[in-house]
Amino acid sequence: MDRKVIRVGMLGLGTVGSGVLQVLTQNGEEITGKLGSRLEVKKIVVRDVSKKRGVGVDPSLLTDKPEDVLDDPEIDIVVEVMGGVEETRHLITRALENGKYVVTANKDLLAQYGADLLQVAGAHGKNIYYEASVGGGIPLIRPLKRCLAANRILSLRGIINGTTNYILTQMSREGKEFEEALSEAQAKGFAEADPSSDLEGRDASYKLAILASLAFSSRINLADIYVEGISEVKLRDIRYAAELGYAVKLLAMAEENDHGLKLRVHPVLIPLTHPLAAVSNEFNAIFLNGDAVGEVMFYGRGAGSLPTASAVCADIIDAARNIKHQVENGIVEATFGEKPVIPIAEQVSCFYLRLKAKDQPGVFASLATAFGDARVSLDMIIQKRSDAETAEIVLVTHGVSEGSFGQAIAEIKAMPAIKSINSILRVMER
Ligand code: NAP
Ligand code: HSE
Repeated sequence: MDRKVIRVGMLGLGTVGSGVLQVLTQNGEEITGKLGSRLEVKKIVVRDVSKKRGVGVDPSLLTDKPEDVLDDPEIDIVVEVMGGVEETRHLITRALENGKYVVTANKDLLAQYGADLLQVAGAHGKNIYYEASVGGGIPLIRPLKRCLAANRILSLRGIINGTTNYILTQMSREGKEFEEALSEAQAKGFAEADPSSDLEGRDASYKLAILASLAFSSRINLADIYVEGISEVKLRDIRYAAELGYAVKLLAMAEENDHGLKLRVHPVLIPLTHPLAAVSNEFNAIFLNGDAVGEVMFYGRGAGSLPTASAVCADIIDAARNIKHQVENGIVEATFGEKPVIPIAEQVSCFYLRLKAKDQPGVFASLATAFGDARVSLDMIIQKRSDAETAEIVLVTHGVSEGSFGQAIAEIKAMPAIKSINSILRVMER
């Protein structure tokens, strides 16, 4: 039976949900033309039905009862854009058990329970679509699952959190303080409901878990990802980094070698000549390196209402095509193994270090000795500023094992001439 109308139920009408409704409304004719059926939003679950909405919506569509969507047999596709993990996991499970396709932008949930939910979907002949969960509007999940499937992926690295990239851009280009830039990112709808997820790198680690599991066909345990956020990045370091020819960005990185996977999210000083250094504000960019294709770069808006809605709506259209053409299941995930993970202490990095020391003879020499003892070779060492008694020293190391660097730092902290270690950041090799 040809379906003239395919009905959608939504969980959430916030930043992303409003964008979804707007795209489905303003591009309705375009989508109907491509799909050959009309998409109709039948119900939308929100927390507060009386809240003023930033998007035109018929109030009769709103409900605060999830069962109005999950248990309605006329609804074919459930779009989850409300966020959260435990409650949402149960709602999505119920939607799948009730025979609905699910579209979600929820990386927190997928990074933790994605494999379980896909299993539930498979058991009910349905699928979960999650293109919007990583990189906002940038196509990433489909290219990994399909277009690059023949490759052995060697590495991936990129900027996959819009909020932190917005903050770091505003700090470095406009000289804004961290708090001011964060408030702007929240007002623009980029930040998570709990922005600490962005700032502490958790959001990027969820996204990295999703990307790496597809890239390396391995289940990724979140505890295996080394994560540091940007809350310790100071305007002073951003300025010093610029003087040295670097931009500071929060990077997510994954690579595979003969010993296993390296998985990390942390701020990195990137040479200004590298394309990632030019990725600004809420834009994301991801480099993938495949053994056949070589390097591929994906770039675009990684957060925000309409860019994210673009990916969500594409998923809705994909699900609707399955329904229209009566294609069961359609799950095309990789087969997930369990690859070993190399601990951070065994990985190699270059470091930027800023410290304050007593302005007295011999301090440079004792620093050099401490690094030499730990087999850390220095790339540059600069005395940035000194008052009567204090010298501020900035140095950059060559590549060194994280363990050896930690050993050198412990020795330096114990030196009487060292007043404080103010900042430690990693550096991308030129
Ligand atoms: P948001 O603006 O906070 O919107 C959340 C929506 O869900 C609101 O409409 C809220 O209702 C509703 N809601 C929340 N908890 C609910 C509950 N327990 N019961 C019923 N309704 C509930 O969030 P968002 O920024 O749109 O993000 C939604 C999801 O998309 C999250 O998983 C996020 O990580 C993901 N995502 C966001 C972006 C982005 O740029 N913002 C990009 C990619 C992915 P009320 O309106 O009544 O409060
Ligand atoms: N809070 C996320 C970000 C939204 O800033 O990237 C997009 O996933």
